[in-house]
Amino acid sequence: MTVKIAPSILSADMARLAEEIAEVERAGADMIHLDIMDGHFVPNLTFGPPLVRWLRGATRLPLDAHLMVTDPDPLVGPLAAAGTARVAVHVEACVHLHRTLASIRDAGMSPGIAINPATSPCLLDTAVQWADFVLVMSVDPGFGGQAFIPEALATVRRIRELGDVEVAADGGVAPSNAGALARAGAATLIAGSAVFGAPDRRAAIAAIRRAAEEGERA
Ligand code: DX5
Ligand code: ZN
Repeated sequence: MTVKIAPSILSADMARLAEEIAEVERAGADMIHLDIMDGHFVPNLTFGPPLVRWLRGATRLPLDAHLMVTDPDPLVGPLAAAGTARVAVHVEACVHLHRTLASIRDAGMSPGIAINPATSPCLLDTAVQWADFVLVMSVDPGFGGQAFIPEALATVRRIRELGDVEVAADGGVAPSNAGALARAGAATLIAGSAVFGAPDRRAAIAAIRRAAEEGERA
């Protein structure tokens, strides 16, 4: 299994966003991760569908939206219209998770469930079958550059046991933990500061990929 690398633009130079995205695309990224924050579900505030529409024109890579918002439903239609490929909503935010995941799929996008580090994976026992992927948070969402929470590894393993679902890991991902994440079953690694904080983005992506592949083989 080849691990996919999704740089998160949260740590990019937002004043040069199109160039930053083009650079990681050339450097071997598989997807572009978009952290959409509302200032309520998390203390931080980022951007919404209008910016996503502009970014759609800046890359050929799939756009992977991670909704850290208390009310994701009104964003589904606009994100689909903006050309988003994948949308993850938080299990902690969705009262009617089945309906929200179905609306993402009906809008032509791939639905995912995001889960915080403190939330038990048991909560996904039933819902996992309605999602294409589970985004396991390995930091408390809201900010880039935080330290990896190692208990997320057990969550990755537990989710993999629940069914045939892709697991993505998000938060504090670096070459130092990419091997353990891949071995636990993460197929997609989302990395913000480890990619955009590095002067050589190609080397940064390659280092994460190499560590993941070594971890899988170990
Ligand atoms: C955190 C976001 C992450 C973040 C990762 O709330 O969901 O996607 O950008 O950044 P790093 O890799 O720096 O932890
Ligand atoms: Zn994210």
